[in-house]
Amino acid sequence: MNTKDFTYKTSQLLPDLGSYTAEAPSNIALVKYWGKYGEQLPKNTSISYTLDNCKTKTEVVLKKRIEADDQFHFEVYLDGDLKPAFKSKIETFLKRIETYTPFLKSFEFEIHTKNTFPHSSGIASSASGMAALSKCFMAMENSVKPELTDEFLAQKTSFLARLGSGSACRSTGGKLVVWGKHEDIEGSSSFFGIDYPHEVHPNFRAFQDSILLIDEGQKQVSSSIGHDLMHGHPFAEQRFQQADDNISKLKSILSSGNFDEFFALVESEALSLHAMMMTSSPYFILMKPNTLEVINKIWELRRSEEVQIGFTLDAGANVHLLYPNTSSARVRKFITEDLIQFCQGDKVIHDQIQF
Ligand code: PMV
Repeated sequence: MNTKDFTYKTSQLLPDLGSYTAEAPSNIALVKYWGKYGEQLPKNTSISYTLDNCKTKTEVVLKKRIEADDQFHFEVYLDGDLKPAFKSKIETFLKRIETYTPFLKSFEFEIHTKNTFPHSSGIASSASGMAALSKCFMAMENSVKPELTDEFLAQKTSFLARLGSGSACRSTGGKLVVWGKHEDIEGSSSFFGIDYPHEVHPNFRAFQDSILLIDEGQKQVSSSIGHDLMHGHPFAEQRFQQADDNISKLKSILSSGNFDEFFALVESEALSLHAMMMTSSPYFILMKPNTLEVINKIWELRRSEEVQIGFTLDAGANVHLLYPNTSSARVRKFITEDLIQFCQGDKVIHDQIQF
């Protein structure tokens, strides 16, 4: 594809006053994105489940400026409170998407955002946040160009979100979303995420994700620094190859419905991601002792009772427990009796994937 396809072209003007709202969910990657190049393009293909409950809701309120200048004029509010600290990340995003949303400089606008999950929980809100904001901007474009096709809207929304935060492009639509060009995935692109186009066995269509909040503190190393550390990383090329190979393997697992192979691959992905962090220069560790306690408990339960359960990790200490709905009763008991003791403030967020 050509990125010029997404350049904004219309003589139709937006109204002088307007308000656009959208919501977008969080996602959890099964095959991880870690390492990028150029304008937020991924070094390997990734795939994620879209969550149902953890979401960001955003409203953009605009007023036409008397005179447009070469600046963005905006404020950001979280739960009604002004958040000057959020501005620089959003300003970077606005600059990156300027060619595709040139109308923004003609307005002064307020971004009002809220998350359905606690802000301090350690769950990244950048994916759902950038996805929701991109949806608002596309709603603006669509309001003056009602002829846009669903396909164009889906692709450009994800394309914009990617420029805010890579993984955000997997949060703008679809339940199982692939990002990154891959020869085994039809229609895949490094510019935007697509709905996984191949067969998914019913075993993987009704899943739970219980997020164990191990550590609510601020991460010591942000994901943008982590991505950067993949440049010149001694194992980078092997890692990108491993992830792309895992996409092909996962494709056959998703159609066969094999739980054991699914959990083996997903857990290996999570640990490989963290292994990259531990072997970066400078190295860092985002897992905490309780992350390892929980992982060992999961392996013990799986060994002793053959429960269908596995885990994955984001760029943080929290553990995402993944299990099919059929394991729910046993896993909920397991969380209460064996795992909650390792969670900060006994906090667990139960989410799900249904499609
Ligand atoms: O979207 P970013 O730049 O915050 O990167 C997130 C990367 C991981 O969450 C660690 C993995 C992934 O694929 O979501």
